[in-house]
Amino acid sequence: MNGEIKKIRHKKFEIEIHGELTSTNDYLKNAALCGAADRLCAVAIRQTHGKGRLGRSFFSPEGGLYMSLLIKRKIPVSAANFLTPTAAVAVANALEAKNSKKIGIKWVNDLYADGKKVCGILTESGISKNPEFLDFAVVGIGINLNRPEGGFPEDIRERAGVAFEEKIGEEQKTELIFEILERLDKLTDKAITGDRGFVREYRERSVLIGREVEIVLPGEAYRAKVVGIDGDCALTVRTSDGEKKVFAGEAKVVM
Ligand code: BTN
Repeated sequence: MNGEIKKIRHKKFEIEIHGELTSTNDYLKNAALCGAADRLCAVAIRQTHGKGRLGRSFFSPEGGLYMSLLIKRKIPVSAANFLTPTAAVAVANALEAKNSKKIGIKWVNDLYADGKKVCGILTESGISKNPEFLDFAVVGIGINLNRPEGGFPEDIRERAGVAFEEKIGEEQKTELIFEILERLDKLTDKAITGDRGFVREYRERSVLIGREVEIVLPGEAYRAKVVGIDGDCALTVRTSDGEKKVFAGEAKVVM
């Protein structure tokens, strides 16, 4: 179904299933600028230019789940940084509700199972004229459901894993999409209205607390030990210079 769009009925969301898209995030950002409404969800069977955080690409062959949700509610700029952690908690719970492996969260946007990355989340936002609110946000979720035919490419083979032991069929995939959307929608509403209750679970699922990491920022990298995640979802690390908060960049586990 390359050029076709299949629509799935859901009481709250408009869900479009595309055979192929460059990126479900790019598709929805464009749709948002063309007037698409809140709660439009785009799913692609495969993506040709799946995008990850920090300008990376996201391997998106047939068999995985690649979906984005358009949030076009009144989103205060102060809530923007919570959208990715909120989505991480929502997706972790949705996966486990559908009998995935046990899911951990690697700050800030990756889900892990059995020590391997099984899902990445990329949130992008549209800037409005009003500096206090976002125009819209697009939350993109990519999940390696099962092992891809031919395996993972060489460059990610060591790090990439799959969320499920059992093969996931079409019907189960649709059920998983619903589960994710419903959980994401509820938690997003909470995050937008300032309820930070989800941060406790975000912290509890962390696979980084207690680990030695390298913090990588543009033009800077340093070794540290992760000691916690604070109420703003920033990583708290201990270095030879004392404790620091990390709000951006990447934390790479040092073996
Ligand atoms: C990351 O690993 O840094 C984030 C990966 C996010 C991938 C998803 S797949 C659906 C959506 N469309 C994209 O192009 N990216 C996100």
